[in-house]
Amino acid sequence: MLVRLEAFIISFIAVANAYIWPSPQLDALEAARFDQQGFNANFLAGFIQPCDTFQFGSDTGRANAADWIRTVGFYLAFPHWADLFTEAYHDMATHNSTDGTGGLDASIRFAEEQARVENAGDGFDNTMTLIFLLAIVNRYISISDNIALAALIAIENCGGPEIAFRGGRVDAAVPNAPGVPEPQQDLASHIASFARQGFTQTEMIGLVACGHTFGGVQHDFFPDIVNVLNDTSDTEDVAHFDTTFVTFDNNVALEYISGTTQNPLVVGFNDTTNSDKRIFWQRRERHYAIVRLLIRGANTLSMPCRFANSLDVYASTCANLFVRMLDTVPSNVTLTDVITPLPVKPSNVELILDGNTLQLWGQVRLWNMTEDPTRTVSMLWDNHIGGTGNATLGFAGLSSSTGGKYSAVWYGFNATSPLSFLSLDAIAGVTSLSFVVDNELDDQDGLGFALQDGFMFSQTSCLFGDPVVGKFDVAVRNGVNPTRVYLEQSITDSVQRVSVSEIDIVPPSEPIAANAAYSLWSINITEATTSYGIGAEIDGVKYSTTDTHVMVLFPPCPAEK
Ligand SMILES: *[C@@H]1O[C@H](CO)[C@@H](O)[C@H](O)[C@H]1NC(C)=O
Ligand SMILES: *[C@@H]1O[C@H](CO)[C@@H](O)[C@H](O)[C@H]1NC(C)=O
Ligand SMILES: *[C@@H]1O[C@H](CO)[C@@H](O)[C@H](O)[C@H]1NC(C)=O
Ligand SMILES: *[C@@H]1O[C@H](CO)[C@@H](O)[C@H](O)[C@H]1NC(C)=O
Ligand SMILES: *[C@@H]1O[C@H](CO)[C@@H](O)[C@H](O)[C@H]1NC(C)=O
Ligand SMILES: *[C@@H]1O[C@H](CO)[C@@H](O)[C@H](O)[C@H]1NC(C)=O
Ligand SMILES: *[C@@H]1O[C@H](CO)[C@@H](O)[C@H](O)[C@H]1NC(C)=O
Ligand SMILES: *[C@@H]1O[C@H](CO)[C@@H](O)[C@H](O)[C@H]1NC(C)=O
Repeated sequence: MLVRLEAFIISFIAVANAYIWPSPQLDALEAARFDQQGFNANFLAGFIQPCDTFQFGSDTGRANAADWIRTVGFYLAFPHWADLFTEAYHDMATHNSTDGTGGLDASIRFAEEQARVENAGDGFDNTMTLIFLLAIVNRYISISDNIALAALIAIENCGGPEIAFRGGRVDAAVPNAPGVPEPQQDLASHIASFARQGFTQTEMIGLVACGHTFGGVQHDFFPDIVNVLNDTSDTEDVAHFDTTFVTFDNNVALEYISGTTQNPLVVGFNDTTNSDKRIFWQRRERHYAIVRLLIRGANTLSMPCRFANSLDVYASTCANLFVRMLDTVPSNVTLTDVITPLPVKPSNVELILDGNTLQLWGQVRLWNMTEDPTRTVSMLWDNHIGGTGNATLGFAGLSSSTGGKYSAVWYGFNATSPLSFLSLDAIAGVTSLSFVVDNELDDQDGLGFALQDGFMFSQTSCLFGDPVVGKFDVAVRNGVNPTRVYLEQSITDSVQRVSVSEIDIVPPSEPIAANAAYSLWSINITEATTSYGIGAEIDGVKYSTTDTHVMVLFPPCPAEK
């Protein structure tokens, strides 16, 4: 079989336009994907250690001290780099491309799937625990999006290529049918299994060679494949796929082609489970690789040969196959476009009414830039009365992404206290923002960065009574006339999927003025520690605040006269 790579490299070139801010789900996915380390970093990336600090064998293998964190009452194992990738593959591998069922849908979180022999190992439970413990699953980012992000962050941070990320995966309600290939199966079964998942034989070879750049096979879970190793530097008896098992590189192919491989699925003592050997093997081309290269050119070589010959070919092919793997979802799920970073992105933007003042909280992120004390960043805004305002912003912090390949610099809306708010006049309000970085304007091609000041949390919210009741006040801008105003509360169903429940606020029978521009809508709440956001329906469109508030933080209500 002649193997041509070009056929599937093409889809990798597609680049989507950045989206228009604000878009709550895309804003959240963009942040989770790109704000990996440092200021405002997402929790998931922050808890995955830099790749080179995590070495099997440097002391005690998997039970490495750095491998565990003590949390309230129990120990949690950090997932291994290889586990994050493997988990995404095992979750995806249940896909049936004929009827569109299964795929990357977090069904691997169900104990029933984890208990299957095809999912042997403890890595899956670890990753799931980490994802839930860090509470990074939210209304905008599903468990399955987090599984995809964990795999992507692991690959990018261990020397791998940049991976195009789409969001919008939907979590399964029940376990999927089994379908993960196993090492003792024959080649025909593997080809059939990958075909069911939607991959050709060529793509199967690629995906196996790409995935096996990390990790190995552990004796405890696969005693038929790996013996006790008697190696004091590898006490967990992991036989690695290549010599550089924490780094993304083409050594898994190089060592296979040069005949030095120790891959336990190629040269394992039990030929029944040498599945990588069966998958990589193509008509003895290995022996004639150099001759064929000279005579006929690189395109006639088998995929393992081409991977061994070129790290670039390996990396770009793997990037494409990883995207295919992560984007294999049930056919009734629609993913977003590829998420690219916004060059200038407002973040954590909140409005709070305080008397005659609007507190405008937030920061702006400048992508692919580092700190420069000579840079000036200012924010301009439009208000409801045809006026404009401007403020100089203050340096707030730095973040980095993609294994340190990109950095971003953050500025706070308040120059002197970058983590505090900027006071605006409540009557004038604010309709949109734009930013000027060293005389260069970013206003989203004239659209501005729209703000919704029609409703917001009011600082008049307070506590009264015994037992204590919270009076939750929402300030509603006069003339906006929302159809509904409600509290939003994130809830988790019996299979850990997050959604939002809405608690309507009854419109006041007589307007209660907060100031000349805003009136108050109130609701009494008794759940002291529940976080509530605010939602409103205005002209048929639903809006939500990004900030949430808990009753325990309200001040006591002023005594009544
Ligand atoms: C995939 O779906 C098709 C159509 O429903 C079905 O005939 C086939 O058996 C399924 N494959 C597997 C491996 O379950
Ligand atoms: C080889 O692997 C197969 C499948 O796991 C197993 O049934 C067999 O017992 C193994 N043979 C040896 C010698 O371990
Ligand atoms: C490990 O040591 C045990 C006991 O000495 C021995 O039986 C076994 O063959 C050794 N395994 C390897 C892989 O050398
Ligand atoms: C997709 O279809 C499955 C099976 O009919 C169903 O359980 C699931 O809720 C659907 N998902 C979406 C996002 O529509
Ligand atoms: C990042 O910035 C550097 C230096 O200004 C520039 O050369 C590079 O093209 C930028 N990369 C991206 C992806 O924007
Ligand atoms: C910024 O605001 C000041 C008044 O506070 C005004 O004089 C100045 O023209 C404004 N600058 C811009 C660029 O709008
Ligand atoms: C910046 O924040 C400080 C402290 O919260 C506040 O006193 C000050 O008024 C703010 N500055 C502006 C321009 O709003
Ligand atoms: C909240 O409770 C107080 C005291 O019971 C009551 O006077 C008030 O009407 C309640 N407000 C709402 C919006 O229900």
